[in-house]
Amino acid sequence: MKVNNQHYRTIYFDNGKVRTINQNALPFEFKWFISNSYKETCKAIQTMIVRGAGAIGAAAGYAMAQAACEAPADNYYHFLEMARYNIENTRPTARNLFFSTEKVFNEALKGKLYAIAEAERLADENSEEGRLIGEYGNNLIKDRMNIETHCNAGWLAFVDYGSALAPIYNAWDKDKKIFVYVDETRPRLQGGRLTAWELFNQGIPHAILPDNAGASLMAQGKIDMIIVGADRIAANGDVANKIGTLEKAITANYYNIPFYVAAPCSTIDFNTKTGKDIIIEQRDADEVKSLNGIDQKGNLHTVTVNNPLSDCINPAFDITPAKLITSIITNKGIVDPNENSIISLFQ
Ligand code: MRU
Repeated sequence: MKVNNQHYRTIYFDNGKVRTINQNALPFEFKWFISNSYKETCKAIQTMIVRGAGAIGAAAGYAMAQAACEAPADNYYHFLEMARYNIENTRPTARNLFFSTEKVFNEALKGKLYAIAEAERLADENSEEGRLIGEYGNNLIKDRMNIETHCNAGWLAFVDYGSALAPIYNAWDKDKKIFVYVDETRPRLQGGRLTAWELFNQGIPHAILPDNAGASLMAQGKIDMIIVGADRIAANGDVANKIGTLEKAITANYYNIPFYVAAPCSTIDFNTKTGKDIIIEQRDADEVKSLNGIDQKGNLHTVTVNNPLSDCINPAFDITPAKLITSIITNKGIVDPNENSIISLFQ
């Protein structure tokens, strides 16, 4: 997608280095993070310099390729195994991370050039999947629709295009006059910071909503549809996505508003039978207690916003049961959220 009219991918591999847009600096500063080793790439995933299921998947694939480049000849296999373990322990919920490490690890067994080629192939595939999700998802969007989205499942969360935002970009390119309500998405504000920044850059009309305003807008008939992304989809169609998604789905169901999940097939995990089996990442309480932002002079500060002496809980994701989901928009078409329909995507 474009920033100041120049096309970028969120992440790419460059001579052993991983270059990724530093998402922690957005929307205040557009800058790149350069990782020189697989361990630095692990750190970038953990600290959310790179985040979002698809981008994490690409980063994990590149980290595995970096490990293949770093591994000493006399300890190659053991080094790769340790690296895979470390990469897979950065963040537990997004399926794409494990999808990529497995594929690049298997190629790395043949040699580092195979590992690099596979990581590059996966990144290209990730981008193409987003494009296709956009094509399919656009068919659900009518002219003048008002669409709500949660968190950031745009191009920053993938290599390009995105998942939940891909149909929105596609509809906008086809001259549909749409409006997007962007959930702010506490505690890290991926909606207010990243989705809003993406939409602003594409010139798409939108407004940031406090997380607790959605129900009120739905009650007033101001939301025509909701599209969210997914971090992992269980075999039965249950979906793990950013914390707060479940509340939107329950409310949409109450008001009969279609609730769509957009994700590539690489987010589907047949080894996970239902949402109950999905590991939910618990993040640091500080993410709830404090916020960073800029002052009027553009200087960045971190401030405490809640009672510093209270405990906080910070689950990063929740599970939306399949029965609350209207359809799943994938790169292979739109399906009902049940096991048979999901299996049909792979036949
Ligand atoms: O914790 P994050 O920001 O990595 O969360 C992942 C997400 O971006 C969302 O849950 C998103 O809606 C699905 S991933 C494209």
